[in-house]
Amino acid sequence: MKNYFETAFDLLDRVYRKGAFLKIVLADLPENAENRALVTKLCYGTVEGDAKYHYQIARLTQGKPLKPHVRLILKMAMYLLSDLGRPAYATINTAVEFSKRFDKGAASGLINAVLRRFLREEMTFVYPERRYERLSVQYSYPLFAVKRLFHTYGEEAEEIIRGGEAVNAVRFAKGVNGGEYFTEQGVEFTPSPFTNLFYAEKFSRNADYEKGIYTFQSVGSVAICDMIAPCERLLDTCAAPGGKSVYLAEKCTSVTAAELHPHRAALIEGYAKRMGATNLTVAVKDATEDREEWHSYFDAVLCDVPCSGYGVLKENPDIKLRASERDFTSLPPLQKEILTRSSTFVKSGGVLYYSTCTLFTEENDGVIAAFLKNNPDFLVEEATSPLPHKKMKYGVQFLPHDAKAGFYFAKLRKK
Ligand SMILES: C[S@@+](CC[C@H](N)C(=O)[O-])C[C@H]1O[C@@H](n2cnc3c(N)ncnc32)[C@H](O)[C@@H]1O
Repeated sequence: MKNYFETAFDLLDRVYRKGAFLKIVLADLPENAENRALVTKLCYGTVEGDAKYHYQIARLTQGKPLKPHVRLILKMAMYLLSDLGRPAYATINTAVEFSKRFDKGAASGLINAVLRRFLREEMTFVYPERRYERLSVQYSYPLFAVKRLFHTYGEEAEEIIRGGEAVNAVRFAKGVNGGEYFTEQGVEFTPSPFTNLFYAEKFSRNADYEKGIYTFQSVGSVAICDMIAPCERLLDTCAAPGGKSVYLAEKCTSVTAAELHPHRAALIEGYAKRMGATNLTVAVKDATEDREEWHSYFDAVLCDVPCSGYGVLKENPDIKLRASERDFTSLPPLQKEILTRSSTFVKSGGVLYYSTCTLFTEENDGVIAAFLKNNPDFLVEEATSPLPHKKMKYGVQFLPHDAKAGFYFAKLRKK
């Protein structure tokens, strides 16, 4: 059986070298893997602190070129030593022994030397002096994104970059008393601002999950559903994996959950079945394309568009590995196109909702501004939430450090 280090390395190697999504590779972690919880922590921690470790490695090796597996082993070991406080010599030994799997152990001496030097320096992290560069390394946040956040949010950007802790949020199905459920099970929990959502750090799936008693849904996702009014016919244009559609099916008479990718549409089917949402229909459809029978058909349409995802970096730290400034030029045109097409499916007097899980004006208020310019038959309506938020010109912006999630929401009424 593989040890924890080997298991985590094999998963992380897929993320680093093949661009796989961290959540997806972790879904392949066998139930009986050794030290499953530690493997998960090691994968998240290594990716989350990637640039911080990268910078120390460059310093400790005087910028020597390193093979990708050597760099990854060093990053993993640094996380174990510094952030997790694992026993020093056993950890170094595990990393060095593991490195012998490659190139007949050619790099094991270097790995040993770098990690021992890191220890001798009492695991001190050194950062660049200039503020934006320092924040970028310290919080492993892309430099272009640091600059953009300061431009939009001023001094608050530093807190945004530092972020909040990811929380384990459990949403109970309609009619289930979540507080009573947790109390009976002896699970520690704290309430959220939403009646059916609770934070329970140590709670993990049991048999009731498959029975649809509860689901795991982020507070951001629940907050968006909370701002959507019950109606008869609702269309969710970018719906997979289905968290919002399924929740909205509890509030609306019928929900059509559309999604571009068939394999992702299948996730909605599974989610709806598990939660017993029989009034939800799944459609495989490109949200930029027309469908004549949907013209002016829906009371409400939600566009939860693909976005750069900076509001959910704690849950998906691998976004930072793939981050590119090009997202800011490639995503807004798609987001505008989806919103514009979707607006034709809203009936007169109905509502068009727009949401993202990101923090940048270009993908949020900027998209709404461009839409309103070409669609004078839509008016902005105020949205509000019990979660802390900022009022922007058109929508509301939730920030990761005070709302536990970063996302944006706007509400537009068709005249
Ligand atoms: C932010 S996620 C949606 C999350 C979902 N609303 C939920 O709460 O579970 C965006 C989704 O849009 C899908 N998508 C991307 N481009 C699309 C398009 N042109 N048409 C429809 N869906 C699209 C992606 O595959 C992804 O599943």
